[in-house]
Amino acid sequence: MTDLEIRRAQFDFDDDVPFIWNPGNPAFSFSMNATSIIAVCFEKMIVAAVQEALPLISDTAVAAEADAFLRQEAQHARSHRRHLQALNRRYPGLQETLDAAINHYDKLTATTPLAYRLAYIADLEATFTPSMKMMLDNEALLFRGGDDRVASLFLWHFVEEVEHRSSALIIYDAVVGKPWYRVRVLPSVVRHLGEVITIIADGVNDSVPEDERGVDAGAMMRTVRMRRAVRRWLRLDPPDPDATPPSYAGIRRREKIIAVVNVLLSQTPFHKPANSPLPEFADRWLARYRAGDDVWHWYTSELAGKDGNRG
Ligand SMILES: [Fe+2]
Ligand SMILES: [Fe+2]
Repeated sequence: MTDLEIRRAQFDFDDDVPFIWNPGNPAFSFSMNATSIIAVCFEKMIVAAVQEALPLISDTAVAAEADAFLRQEAQHARSHRRHLQALNRRYPGLQETLDAAINHYDKLTATTPLAYRLAYIADLEATFTPSMKMMLDNEALLFRGGDDRVASLFLWHFVEEVEHRSSALIIYDAVVGKPWYRVRVLPSVVRHLGEVITIIADGVNDSVPEDERGVDAGAMMRTVRMRRAVRRWLRLDPPDPDATPPSYAGIRRREKIIAVVNVLLSQTPFHKPANSPLPEFADRWLARYRAGDDVWHWYTSELAGKDGNRG
C-alpha cells in the first residue's frame, strides 16, 4: 500500500498577492508564479490521465499509489488556483493567460494517447526531485523573506513532489512499461513545455506592468536567453551587467551542476526516483507537520514558535 498522505492545505489567499512576492529575488518570484500556472494545467492533465489509467491497473498496491498520487496533485492544483486568483485580483489579464495554458494542456489530453501522456508525466515528475532538492537545500535564500503565503505554498508542494517522486513512474511501468518510449517522446515533451512557457511569458508581459514584474518575462524564458546564459556560464560570453540577476544567483555553482546532471540522469530509461538524494528540508517540513505546527504559514509560525507564542 502507498505511504502517501493526503493533507488538507490551509493557505489564506483571500487578499491579493504581489507579483514580486519575494522583493529580494524578482526573477525567482516570476518563475514561481509561472510554476503556479503550469501546476494548475499540468496537474489537471495528470488527474485526467491517471483516472483514465486506473481501470487498466490490476495490482492493488499500484492502484492505491495512483489514487493517492492524483489526490495529492488535485490538492496542489486547488491551492495554486487560489494563489492565481489572488494574483488575478491585482492583474485581471492573467486569467486569460491561465485559460490559454489550460487549453494547451486540454488539447494534449484530447489528442494524444494515454501512453504518451503517462510518459510525459513520468518524464516531468522525474525532474522534480533533483531540481526541488536544489531549491529546498537553499530554502532560506529563495523563500525566507518573501510573502509567507506564497513561500509556504511552494515549500509544501515541493515537499510532496519529493514524497511522491516514484508515483508517476510506478503508474507508467504498470500501464505502459516501455522504458525507451519515455526517452523517445522526451523531445516532444520539451517542445510542448516550451510552448506553454511562451504562452505564460507573453501573457505576463501583457498583463503585469513592467515596474511591478521587475523582469521581461519573455526574455527570461526564451530559449535564446537560455542559450546565452549557458554560454556565459561556460565563460564563452562576457557577463551582461544589465541582465536581471538570475533566479538562482547565490546558489553555489557546484549545487547547480549537480542539479542539472541529476535532472539529465532522471530522463534515462532505467532511472529509479526512489534512489535519488533527498533534501533534508523535507524531513524538517514533515516533522513540523506531524507536530501540528502551522506549516501553511511556515516562516511566521516558526517565528511565533520561537517567541513562545504558538497557540
Ligand atoms: Fe504537484
Ligand atoms: Fe507531482
